[in-house]
Amino acid sequence: MAFAEYIRAPEFEGKEKHVPDLALSDSDVGTIVTIQVGKKIVHPTTKEHHIGWVQLFGEIQDGKFVQIATLNFGEGTSLPRGSVVIKKEDYKSLTAISYCNLHGVWENSISL
Ligand SMILES: [Fe+2]
Repeated sequence: MAFAEYIRAPEFEGKEKHVPDLALSDSDVGTIVTIQVGKKIVHPTTKEHHIGWVQLFGEIQDGKFVQIATLNFGEGTSLPRGSVVIKKEDYKSLTAISYCNLHGVWENSISL
């Protein structure tokens, strides 16, 4: 089975929240992309159950995807939230994937 088949989209979300939410805000140096796993209810953060990492990719204007950032979290030592700054005009869309040590890999995308 291809790895892509293991990635879960927002429609498969259950009680616990795994989908990486993407929120944009302007700043004097660029667009701040804030990623939080679980939009209204932040994912649990314990040694036994936590988000290990989030990766952010961007679709550039020619249709290719490039990696923008990787956020690594400790085993239950930090909430799964972080921010990066981008030049919004460089991208057509953003995609984030998150990894839960119990529930796998989740994906979310937004168009810019
Ligand atoms: Fe989980």
